[in-house]
Amino acid sequence: MTGLQGKRILFGVTGSIAAYKAADWVRSLVKEEALVTVVMTGAAGRFVTPLTFSALSGNPVHHDMFDETPDRVMAHINLSRESDVVLVAPATAQTISRLAHGMADDLLATAVLAARIPVVICPAMNTSMLTHPATAANIDRLLDYGYHLVQPGSGDLACGETGDGRLADWEVARETLLSIFQTQDLKGRRILITAGPTREPLDPARFLSNRSSGKMGYALARTARRRGAEVTLVAGPVHLPDPPGVELVRVTTAAEMAQAVFDQAPSMDIVVKSAAVADFKPMACADHKIKKTGQGLQLDLVKNVDILATLGSNRRPGQVLVGFAAESRDHAGEGQRKLREKNLDLIVVNDILGARTGFDVETNQVTLIDREAATPLPLLSKEATADRIWDRIVQLLAAGFGDALV
Ligand code: CTP
Repeated sequence: MTGLQGKRILFGVTGSIAAYKAADWVRSLVKEEALVTVVMTGAAGRFVTPLTFSALSGNPVHHDMFDETPDRVMAHINLSRESDVVLVAPATAQTISRLAHGMADDLLATAVLAARIPVVICPAMNTSMLTHPATAANIDRLLDYGYHLVQPGSGDLACGETGDGRLADWEVARETLLSIFQTQDLKGRRILITAGPTREPLDPARFLSNRSSGKMGYALARTARRRGAEVTLVAGPVHLPDPPGVELVRVTTAAEMAQAVFDQAPSMDIVVKSAAVADFKPMACADHKIKKTGQGLQLDLVKNVDILATLGSNRRPGQVLVGFAAESRDHAGEGQRKLREKNLDLIVVNDILGARTGFDVETNQVTLIDREAATPLPLLSKEATADRIWDRIVQLLAAGFGDALV
């Protein structure tokens, strides 16, 4: 089951050129098996026809407050009663102004006014309109009402200018929707996560690295954010989209990762080290490309600092420290050893030889080992695995770890 499956979305579309993007959002929601009902303003219908939205959502589109069709009478009240969340995308300056002032002059505005469910606003407009004090004040008012705001993105705008005001990417809005349906059990927690491999340069063209894709660490960052945490992600070189709402620090080498982690860790409540840090690096990086001379090449390697072990020996009281152990044999034994030697609260052990649990796959099967128990988890998606890891960390916090915040 995906996060939005079965969720009833009342999708308000207003009169912006970005309405064509909303069509794609509806498609993505339906693909996830969310149940989408679209309400359009009159202006929205000038950009994209209701037929497009009814075809994509599989449901009739609502736009007329005075529709006398029996099942549409009182639609302005019933639409939100029959939904879990209202999503207004794109939300024009005009619609934002009307919602901020409690206007009830069309079906969408009236349905939002009558809604007792979460409301998510996704502005899209020209930069000057967005930054005008009137719009800024209207958005502040919506935030005061408890509405959720999906910040517009930056880039080329339909008006030919470049700046803030583009409708956010679907992935960003999706994260906001998911967080609405997610218990905020990490709210107020500051969490540092590391992800991906590190690269240790050998010469200007070559490096030593490993097969880590960063998918597990990125899944941890997304899911922690959804659960309300303030997340900083220190990531080695990976090819993954930035997780929305997460502070991302990019590094390349183990030394850079160590520096970033040591800078951030003291202020963190929880540190999760899922990165596959290179244990060794070339003693020196050659200034020029190493040439083939003779038969072979001997590399002199030196040890990198063990970031996690260093954190473990300088722990702040109440800080929760979680490690990963990617193993090919004696998983439990190695997990126990690293838990003890690195002074951790929890270690997540996985089998790197499994076809569906190794590098660069979407699934994982891990065992969670803490001071008291070893808990094997089933084969799950990396996101579902990440959520189970957070469940365990929340239990640890409730049991007295991280006292400062409990
Ligand atoms: N780790 C780290 N710094 C390193 C090496 C590892 O912080 N230089 C962290 C990893 O992020 C992981 C944990 O230590 O959370 C275990 O990493 P792993 O590579 O499995 O273990 P090692 O301690 O390197 O031991 P070995 O390679 O001998 O199995």
